Amino acid sequence: MRITMIGSGYVGLVSGTCFAEFGHEVTCVDKDESKIQSLSKGIIPIYEPGLETLIRKNVDNNRLKFTTDIKTAIGTADVIYIAVGTPSRRGDGHADLSYVYEVAEEIGRSLKKHAVIATKSTVPVGTGQKIMTCLNKINPLLETDVVSNPEFLREGSAIEDFMNPDRVIIGASSERAKEIMKELYRPLISREVPVLFTNLETAELIKYASNAFLATKIAFINEIADLCEKCNADIQSVSKGMGMDKRIGEKFLHAGPGYGGSCFPKDTLALTATAKEFLSSVSIVEAVVQSNNQRKQSMAHRIIKAMQEDINQKTIAILGVTFKPNTDDMRESPSLDIIPVLQSKGAKINIFDPQGQKEGINLLPGVKWCQDPYAAMQNADSAVIITEWPEFSALNLARMKESLKHPLIIDLRNIYQPEEMEKAGFTYYSIGRTSVRPIIPSIIKAA
Ligand code: UGA
Repeated sequence: MRITMIGSGYVGLVSGTCFAEFGHEVTCVDKDESKIQSLSKGIIPIYEPGLETLIRKNVDNNRLKFTTDIKTAIGTADVIYIAVGTPSRRGDGHADLSYVYEVAEEIGRSLKKHAVIATKSTVPVGTGQKIMTCLNKINPLLETDVVSNPEFLREGSAIEDFMNPDRVIIGASSERAKEIMKELYRPLISREVPVLFTNLETAELIKYASNAFLATKIAFINEIADLCEKCNADIQSVSKGMGMDKRIGEKFLHAGPGYGGSCFPKDTLALTATAKEFLSSVSIVEAVVQSNNQRKQSMAHRIIKAMQEDINQKTIAILGVTFKPNTDDMRESPSLDIIPVLQSKGAKINIFDPQGQKEGINLLPGVKWCQDPYAAMQNADSAVIITEWPEFSALNLARMKESLKHPLIIDLRNIYQPEEMEKAGFTYYSIGRTSVRPIIPSIIKAA
């Protein structure tokens, strides 16, 4: 089948490449000429493990190409994916759909035969219907099927998520569209990956509800972690014990500095805006948004407290600034809330991140970027782990201690064990685990 993927950002690039790997003929379109030129030469604008190799392989096999010529790419496709960005609109948190409708209008003008038009971008309920209206208005004779096919890729493991998904969601109303989508996903269907067919609105909502639910799990466990610190409980074991219940599940119960990234913060906010529009209440999601914002802000104070409330002219080594490991993405990363507060109190910041410098350099002014973790820790008064890059859990403790001026570690991702760190001579603070005697309120003591 011939697929045109409009938008060669993260979602479009990964999905387009994986469809080419399935054997389809894929054209990825973007209006950014320099990006298309780089991609055609095999230079990838994002860091995603395995993506570069897969792109090169499929370009070499002539199944994947890149262009800025949207008209030609639309004209020849059996399935046209809309995979452009839907950022948060300033002021009201609604998803900004201007790029989506711009593309829909271009499809209306350039398409001369039947094609399925599928949204991969995360779009609020009702967008598919509006795209249909837009196409009918521009070309009433055009025969198209509009489909919602949301993606559930995680940055850092996107190819694995695409190739081995828990499910594929397809919101389509006509039998013809369903058949075409089945053909598209045939390699997954033949491996018995579950495919759920729904109407357009349901598929659109599944995406938001899934992200909001995962965000809720994280915000929930972060609040429980705070409680653990006050009552001598251990969050790692609480998460484990909860996760053993199959109804709850063990995933996304890892306490940390709050969720970031290009999806959860934007999508939870957009869901609250959609609910308002439909006069429906999502008070739980509103609470999650608020709880996560507070969480990110509270992390800087946690560090300041661990450093005895005095960080003026002190050097703090920050290990990891991306919103999670295995990505170079800094969007909504907790580090962007934490570091400016530390700087405003006079701290000097050394940073090491395996991939974060390229994006971080403009977002975090006045910091010193270091080439390895030990260089960041050299003569620093403390080290703070913000992102759990795998290499940080295998650091040489003796060398760390030697590098730091004071052996103080604040681990916001719980990658080390308190006993191990204390034994190695560190003062070690982590999340939801008490390494010092807790203050138990008298009411509990009496009981
Ligand atoms: C998320 C979803 O997981 C994907 O299913 C979805 O397709 C994607 O959004 C999207 O809508 O495009 P992603 O943003 O790449 O994927 O990252 P996650 O792995 O979900 O992590 C998001 C944030 O939550 C990170 O800041 C991470 O550190 C944090 N997190 C995650 C925790 O703090 N604790 C956890 O247990 C899990």
